[in-house]
Amino acid sequence: MNRLRVRQALEATAPVENIVVKGWVRTKRENKGFAFIELNDGSCLMNIQVIADEGIPGWDAIDKVTTGASIAVEGSLVESPGKGQKWEVRAAGIKVVGEADPETFPLQKKRHSDEFLRSIAHLRPRTNKFGAIFRIRSEASYAIHKFFHDNGFAYVHSPIITGSDCEGAGEMFRVTTLDPASTEAKAPENDFFGQEAALTVSGQLTAEIFATSLGDVYTFGPTFRAENSNTPRHAAEFWMVEPEMAFADLSDDMDLGEAFIKSVVGHLRKHCAEDLELFAKWVDKGLTETLDSIENNEFVRLPYTEAIEILKKNAKTKKGKSRFEYPVEWGVDLQTEHERFLTDEHFKRPVIVYDYPKDIKAFYMRMNDDGKTVAAMDILVPRVGELIGGSQREERLDVLKKRIEELGLTEEDYWWYMDLRRFGSVPHAGFGMGFERLLMMVTGVSNIRDVIPCPRTPKHLEF
Ligand code: 4AD
Ligand code: MG
Repeated sequence: MNRLRVRQALEATAPVENIVVKGWVRTKRENKGFAFIELNDGSCLMNIQVIADEGIPGWDAIDKVTTGASIAVEGSLVESPGKGQKWEVRAAGIKVVGEADPETFPLQKKRHSDEFLRSIAHLRPRTNKFGAIFRIRSEASYAIHKFFHDNGFAYVHSPIITGSDCEGAGEMFRVTTLDPASTEAKAPENDFFGQEAALTVSGQLTAEIFATSLGDVYTFGPTFRAENSNTPRHAAEFWMVEPEMAFADLSDDMDLGEAFIKSVVGHLRKHCAEDLELFAKWVDKGLTETLDSIENNEFVRLPYTEAIEILKKNAKTKKGKSRFEYPVEWGVDLQTEHERFLTDEHFKRPVIVYDYPKDIKAFYMRMNDDGKTVAAMDILVPRVGELIGGSQREERLDVLKKRIEELGLTEEDYWWYMDLRRFGSVPHAGFGMGFERLLMMVTGVSNIRDVIPCPRTPKHLEF
């Protein structure tokens, strides 16, 4: 018996005898003497059609073959005489593996809202849309590893439990084994690690250790931020890709970011064409155009100061109304509305904004000669806004020390980070890309919760 996944069956080049296919029933139509079953096993968007004649072994349980039930079908793959499919399965025997009570099975054959499907996250990957999302998510992970592997980057596993707040934003989840109500809990030296511990907000500092020994490296793993912002673009647990290059500056960093995004988008368009088509048809009519604009155009490179000028010039619409909720001024951080004006309306393609004011960026970014800005860059993309945040790192020990002092950080906490500037320091640069934001860009899905298997956001920890 030849076990075939539905995808293999649909891609067959010749009929195959003695096969078995297993999956979940999408629909069943019964006629006098036979039944049509649409079967899906998650290997691809399309179902395979099964034709079962009355009287085959297992027919007596045909009433249990209902939407959502799992079945195994033995038979042969034959050319389909019907329209709409090339191949179908002629069943020689059918077996119900697991029943699904039609009265209570929550996935009816109709379009359900994303909100409803979030409330049944254990079943939503069985729908066309979410099956497609999670196949794309899987393929995108592979595309990322492939890009870095092909370009000679080594994969580094940065720790998930950490003692340092890389971004200095204080958005860390504490990790403790102490009962928070106990008096012990007041002194971190009593805790498991003998000090305060937290879940990582970024693997960057570890990536820097390894960039200054292995050369070009990247991390790709889960990241945690206790941002209490209930936005469609933030999750408390998300995945981040963080390359770090030794002997590299900000311009190398921008080149890498642009090549990386284009490569992953190209890979997905080639290998997930059928799944992506679903999004272009049902989720975002402008998707194909957006992806073309990303793949085929050079990204705009724009100093922060010029970005602010453009935004100020466009602060009012043609009708004289304020375009933005948040006013722009040199020195403020860009809000999503500003980012999206630049990418979706003004330039209509990805924009790399660089040289940000030092006061809105993290301690490790390299100080520019003007003393006011740092060598930071954000890559903003249509529909999503900030996809990548990166920088050239401060490699000069004295300047770094001064920055740490200015920001009120404790030098002792960063002794090893400063050692990297003491012994064979090199210019180096890297960035972080939010993996879910990439998936949002590629699929046109507008809520980050819908590209995460089990999303974690404020007040939500089910599944
Ligand atoms: O801009 P961020 O904060 O940069 C860093 O963490 C650097 N240490 C990265 C580096 O240089 N190695 O975060 C990087 C990216 C953002 O551009 C965004 O795409 C994503 O991570 N991100 C989030 N994605 C989902 N939910 C959140 N709460 C996110 N916070 C950041
Ligand atoms: Mg950022």
